[in-house]
Amino acid sequence: MKILLLGANGQLGSAYRELSKTEAWPLGWELVALGSKECDLSQSWSLSQALEKIRPDLILNGAAYTAVDLAEREQEKCEAINVQAPEVLARYCAYHGIPLVHYSSDYVYDGAGAVERLEGAPHSPVNFYGTSKAKGDEAIIRSGCEHLIFRTSWVFSHTGKNFVKTMLRIGAERPELKVVEDQVGAPTYAPDLAAYSLQALMRALELKVEGRGFPSGVYHLTNSDHTSWADFARAILPGVKVIGIPSSEYPTPAKRPMNSRLSLEKFKTTFRIAPRPWREALQECLDQLKEHHG
Ligand SMILES: NC(=O)c1ccc[n+]([C@@H]2O[C@H](COP(=O)([O-])OP(=O)(O)OC[C@H]3O[C@@H](n4cnc5c(N)ncnc54)[C@H](OP(=O)(O)O)[C@@H]3O)[C@@H](O)[C@H]2O)c1
Repeated sequence: MKILLLGANGQLGSAYRELSKTEAWPLGWELVALGSKECDLSQSWSLSQALEKIRPDLILNGAAYTAVDLAEREQEKCEAINVQAPEVLARYCAYHGIPLVHYSSDYVYDGAGAVERLEGAPHSPVNFYGTSKAKGDEAIIRSGCEHLIFRTSWVFSHTGKNFVKTMLRIGAERPELKVVEDQVGAPTYAPDLAAYSLQALMRALELKVEGRGFPSGVYHLTNSDHTSWADFARAILPGVKVIGIPSSEYPTPAKRPMNSRLSLEKFKTTFRIAPRPWREALQECLDQLKEHHG
């Protein structure tokens, strides 16, 4: 089986590449990992060319336009990568009868209220990035291809740019930090996201072989338990004073949803996988960072 991974150098893409070197990776699966230099998703010809050349048996789309604030100004580019590219991928998958694994975001919801959202909740994004992710999901569903869309949140890792690494850098420079306290969500460790996705994909393929059908759909997939950005920062930097502030004191070009609690029930019952708590995953990430960067 030839597996095409897009977004090879992002947090999730790097985690998939690491995972492919472990025993968890299925025997006989050949990973072809492309970064934006080899396949530019903002150019449909570049994507079509890569698909024709590689002729994959399955696609893992870890690529996305993820600069949430910049997206307000770079709307065309954001749409090309987050809406048009997934649409091209989904059409290709539908035509060739192959599955597509894609990633979406808590930002497709408006974040109102304080309860956990289910996958069927209405989309009402509060920023352009969220709107583009919601449209990408809709295009994939409309295509009729076999798909798993994993909606995740607050992704962090020992690689790439993320909140954990930013906090560690700033925390080393300042005696106290001000961090937003009124946005709640689930931090998600990229290696866990890749590993749980792979397990779910294997289960989905098994269900198909058993004649029960590929369980196409949208699934929330994060580490378990929720927190605020301020409490997340406190867990990252136990020795540093973190002062919680309201979002109104930290204005950003793009609005953020306040409540990013996503129910994991559908994922857990469909695939019989229970994601571990984010605090456990954070510890592993901090250990990894210490090991590689001293
Ligand atoms: N990060 C989060 O907090 C978060 C939260 C919710 C959902 N998600 C979703 O989770 C998925 C994985 O996110 P992540 O955190 O791994 O993102 P990431 O670290 O920002 O990586 C995104 C990847 O997309 C690639 N990419 C961007 N523009 C591209 C283009 N024109 N052509 C080809 N590739 C392009 C980037 O390649 P280059 O590095 O070469 O530019 C990068 O490797 C995405 O679907 C994202 O929307 C992320």
